[in-house]
Amino acid sequence: MASADGANGKVVLLTGANSGIGYVLTLKLLAAGYTTYATARSTAKANDLVADAKSRSLADRLHIVEMDVSADASVADGVAAVLAATDGVLDVVISNAGYGNMAPPEAAAPADYAANFNTNVLGTVRLATATLPTMRARGGGRFIATSSVAGLVGLPLSPVLVATKHALEGLIECHAVSYAGTGVRFSLVEPGPVATAAVDNAHGLDAEIVPELRAAAKAFGSSWWGTATPQTADDCAAYFMRAVTDADPALRYVTFAPVMDLLRVKYADVEGRQAMAALQELVTESGDKE
Ligand SMILES: NC(=O)c1ccc[n+]([C@@H]2O[C@H](COP(=O)([O-])OP(=O)(O)OC[C@H]3O[C@@H](n4cnc5c(N)ncnc54)[C@H](OP(=O)(O)O)[C@@H]3O)[C@@H](O)[C@H]2O)c1
Repeated sequence: MASADGANGKVVLLTGANSGIGYVLTLKLLAAGYTTYATARSTAKANDLVADAKSRSLADRLHIVEMDVSADASVADGVAAVLAATDGVLDVVISNAGYGNMAPPEAAAPADYAANFNTNVLGTVRLATATLPTMRARGGGRFIATSSVAGLVGLPLSPVLVATKHALEGLIECHAVSYAGTGVRFSLVEPGPVATAAVDNAHGLDAEIVPELRAAAKAFGSSWWGTATPQTADDCAAYFMRAVTDADPALRYVTFAPVMDLLRVKYADVEGRQAMAALQELVTESGDKE
């Protein structure tokens, strides 16, 4: 079953591998022949992944690394252990670990923002800080971050998540420009809703919505966006494989086709008027007509 086709012994480091997109992506990377250092907050959390890889005869190239991306030392130690094991070889780094604080406006405290930024944004900063010097010195590599459609447009009513993913977009776009000519390439993968444990693991879902925003929340919930069929983790992970294998990787891989029209409006509309009108339609009664 293991088919090492084209990976040429390349080494991948992927965070948040014990669940959801990261779990499926780890199996895809292994099946494609990549030596995969898959991180989880504890090795016990990766037991299912290891058993799954074994059952598919893919476990030989799988290495589990303990890493909590919200802690400086954990990321530094985890990356150091990987680099020691590979003699400094690291071809692809995928910053995937994250969660969404979905509290509505006015319900989230600054500490909620800080916590979500600490994982989604600073987690990626820690990983980049620990891995980019090695890839730069070797003259090549890929750094891929799991963003979200929430990083591309101001999806209503989840300001914390939207802010973290927009920050991630800026960080990676800045690196992509700064590292031009070094051989290190950067990509963002932007999923819409994906059928994983992300909703179960979200924070702030039970927070109260202020009365003036309840109608908007109801309309958003019944809009084309709010009722969209989630993508499977398998479909979503296929876009990451493109970011890993494309000869000339894109900056962005948007995995959720229904949002493309909205994005085309946004990117063609510098002043933001049309994009705001399209987004505001999601929180009005007319938003559910599409
Ligand atoms: N599912 C969606 O609809 C969706 C849409 C857009 C973007 N995304 C993004 O996709 C990525 C993966 O999410 P998913 O959908 O696969 O959800 P998931 O099943 O909840 O997986 C999230 C992964 O991130 C890990 N993680 C969270 N905080 C961590 C930390 N401090 N240190 C280390 N690992 C941590 C989790 O580990 P534990 O099991 O230990 O918590 C888990 O392995 C996230 O960045 C998420 O924001 C998801």
